[in-house]
Amino acid sequence: TKSTYQFPEGFLWGGATAANQLEGAYLEGGKGMNLADVMPGGKIRFKLITTPGFNFEIDKEKYTYPNHDGIDFYHRYAEDIALFAEMGFKTFRLSIAWSRIFPNGDELEPNEEGLAFYDRVFDECLKHGIEPLVTISHYEMPLYLIKEYGGWRNREVIGLFERYATTLFNRYKKKVKYWLTFNEINGATHMPIFGLGFSPATEEDRLQESFQGLHHQFVASSLAVKACHEIIPDAQIGCMLIYAPVYAYDCNPANVLHAMKEEQIFNYICGDVQVRGEYPAFTKRYFKENGIKLDMQQGDLEIIKQYPVDFISFSYYMSRTEKKELTEEEKANGNIFNGVKNPFLKASDWGWEIDPTGLRIALNQLYDRYRVPLFIVENGLGAYDKVEEDGSINDDYRINYLRDHIEAMGEAIEDGVDLMGYTPWGCIDLVSASTGEMSKRYGFIYVDKHDDGSGTLERKKKKSFFWYKNVIATNGKEL
Ligand code: BG6
Repeated sequence: TKSTYQFPEGFLWGGATAANQLEGAYLEGGKGMNLADVMPGGKIRFKLITTPGFNFEIDKEKYTYPNHDGIDFYHRYAEDIALFAEMGFKTFRLSIAWSRIFPNGDELEPNEEGLAFYDRVFDECLKHGIEPLVTISHYEMPLYLIKEYGGWRNREVIGLFERYATTLFNRYKKKVKYWLTFNEINGATHMPIFGLGFSPATEEDRLQESFQGLHHQFVASSLAVKACHEIIPDAQIGCMLIYAPVYAYDCNPANVLHAMKEEQIFNYICGDVQVRGEYPAFTKRYFKENGIKLDMQQGDLEIIKQYPVDFISFSYYMSRTEKKELTEEEKANGNIFNGVKNPFLKASDWGWEIDPTGLRIALNQLYDRYRVPLFIVENGLGAYDKVEEDGSINDDYRINYLRDHIEAMGEAIEDGVDLMGYTPWGCIDLVSASTGEMSKRYGFIYVDKHDDGSGTLERKKKKSFFWYKNVIATNGKEL
């Protein structure tokens, strides 16, 4: 379809991934174990790693571990980046596995083999004119820090993270100009294990402990911003939010107020701290009512104030609909958040509600509130793909999903939003984070790898590959 949208010159079209979901080679190159290495395949993974007393051990008798092999990007990165280049990517979002650089997380000296691996990856990108966009921490905390330090509960981790981030800035200062600190930082209160590396023992501890962990990450993120600007003056560094605009179920003011509060607590706390440089006013009451007392040290708030991020990046998969009083039946919706089913929306095969207009709303909300450039660094449709007899993969459902979301971006740009770029999630099929499946595919590139571990790892171009290539070539004029 022809469009009239005006995407800015130099708009960063690309795709997004995370180390633990595609690299594989989990014990190669001197890498230490990390959280993802002990997460089994299948829906059981989340329940298992959040079970109090979980020992963070591998049990191959009982489970499979798809992240151990990923899609073998560790060895096939050159081939994959060449395919991204063929699509015309301007940027490629990837993360660095902390435990490749500091295997335990608290060493004084980095692991040269790990550093050299990412040098090769960045060189390959730059050779093709692709700007790397690097997440410093994406759900892959070194296991040693989880077991011995208690994850981000422990204030000492701030200094360890600062050393890790500074090592990266020094090493890659000529190669990487776009950085993100913590993936989906605000997801911490919902899924502390992923971002913070611990599970609160009881539900009563959840808020206290996850906000304390978040506070440590805020300080760590600000210190990373400071170091990044000092070491790479021409770099930009952003925060990364999981963003789902919250709708009130109806115009009952009680529901509208409830939706507003959810929005404040989940969507805005982290952005407010990381962009505006201070805890928002509503936290005063919220912390008090929920018995949250943050242990802060002198200077923390000054650091946060002094070193805000340059831009906001976020993932967008769904909106959410909130109602104050829920019936049992209403609670059972498939979205990753609580809330009720939205009768106006269809959902993916995994129950994630599809809402392109919500992306336009999200962009307007974030830009109105913060007035800093925005970057959509994740979006996409997890779906079952079928390889036809002739080898083709006709993923029109994915094309339709992406087209609708790109149109929403185009509208938001006309609304006045400053949007830097768009990197759809899992541009090459990879292991899903929440369910550890290969069969939940997002890619433009199909990877022959299956839930039972079988597959040749061969890469195949889906129909969406050619479609997206043309979107980039026309800068969004043809969708
Ligand atoms: C985001 C994460 O929450 O969603 C990614 O940053 C993840 O790591 C993505 O893969 C999609 O979720 P899933 O569970 O479908 O892989």
